[in-house]
Amino acid sequence: MKVLLIGSGGREHAMALSIKKSKLCTELVCAPGNPGMAKLGSCIEIDVGNPKEIAKLAKEQAVDFTVIGPEVPLVAGVVDAFQKQGMKIFGPTAAAAKLEGSKAFSKEFMKRHSVPTAGYETFTDLQKAKDYLNERSAPIVVKASGLAAGKGAIICQTKEEALQAVESMLGENAVFGESGKTVVIEEFMKGEEASIFAVCDGKDYLLLAPAQDHKRIFDNDKGPNTGGMGAYAPAPIITGDMMDIIKETIIEPTLRGMAEEGNPYTGILFLGIMVTKEGPKLVEYNCRLGDPETQAVLAVYGGDLLDLFYKAAMGKIKELAKINHQGYAAVVVMASEGYPGEYKSGVSISGISEVEKTSALLLHAGTRIQDYELQTAGGRVFGVVGKGTTLKAALDVAYSGVKKIKFAGAHYRSDIGKKGLAKLK
Ligand code: AMP
Ligand code: GLY
Repeated sequence: MKVLLIGSGGREHAMALSIKKSKLCTELVCAPGNPGMAKLGSCIEIDVGNPKEIAKLAKEQAVDFTVIGPEVPLVAGVVDAFQKQGMKIFGPTAAAAKLEGSKAFSKEFMKRHSVPTAGYETFTDLQKAKDYLNERSAPIVVKASGLAAGKGAIICQTKEEALQAVESMLGENAVFGESGKTVVIEEFMKGEEASIFAVCDGKDYLLLAPAQDHKRIFDNDKGPNTGGMGAYAPAPIITGDMMDIIKETIIEPTLRGMAEEGNPYTGILFLGIMVTKEGPKLVEYNCRLGDPETQAVLAVYGGDLLDLFYKAAMGKIKELAKINHQGYAAVVVMASEGYPGEYKSGVSISGISEVEKTSALLLHAGTRIQDYELQTAGGRVFGVVGKGTTLKAALDVAYSGVKKIKFAGAHYRSDIGKKGLAKLK
């Protein structure tokens, strides 16, 4: 089948590799794609936020099946646009993608279906939010309800910070736009995080390998939150017993609840889990794969990803055997100087052919070709993936690749996988 893949990050480069490897794939079209994905299929410019444009492209290109990488088109209703025209696509409808698109909706949903999560209140009025905060103690978490490109959750260590955070969303000089007009204030959960990916067909699901992301920019989880600076899979914090609890208390009530409410969930259900002393609690839902978790998760997935997504889209995931993953994989993200704040683009990159001599896999994220050279074009520039029979071996391979890439101001964390290694000792 001819496949259209939407997106341009490291996650999509990893997805493109897996789709291209599938025995079902005859041709791959990426939109907009990136210089790494251009080696696997044609790349066509597109506005990923515009469902109609995506459906038009799928029609023009006569693709048989479309796979969506990022959340923006899903929340904007790309699946609905395809379904209206009888075209095949994998992902949740806009109503189902609200699990990610509106934190106010998802927190209420969790409450309705008794999914364990942090206690919270929702506000649209600045004074009421401030009054509430004045009765609480820090640390406390302030979130913009809508999509905010990973920047909408502010972990406040003091009450003053929390007051500033609500001011930045509901105040006169608000900087969050529409996404911050509803604010969720929630209890701070202490624990270690993990990312769980359920591939859902509306009723049944299969699990990909559990992963752990590294959200902060600097080693030892210091500095501001980013989109993710590295990941590894499978994450040993999610033992078999822990996964059983997550299935029973979080995944299954979610799928049942969505179906009962008339919005059966088809697509990737990404659960951000906090493993607390009281057990696993849900931090958030996402309606897509994680970036950079996918780069590690797909490296240990031994099956046919396109077949998995296609069967899920057709409501036939039950026809597939349970997913087994092989070995360990780690991805180390190389970022531009200044990320997640302001950074420069257009910095020359060298060393690509050197990485190809190692066993590491280089995935492009924020790169471009300009004036016949490869340059930086984003905050997260590359993800370098290593595989191995142990986590240590996988990390060694990833870092051996990282050391070959050169661009001015390149920044990466040197402690990816440290928590996992400590657990495996
Ligand atoms: P979110 O935007 O909901 O994905 O949150 C981004 C990140 O903020 C999460 O991955 C956590 O690291 C952190 N976070 C969000 N909510 C909480 C919470 N209630 N307690 C502790 N950390 C949180
Ligand atoms: N790495 C976290 C995310 O994709 O949301």
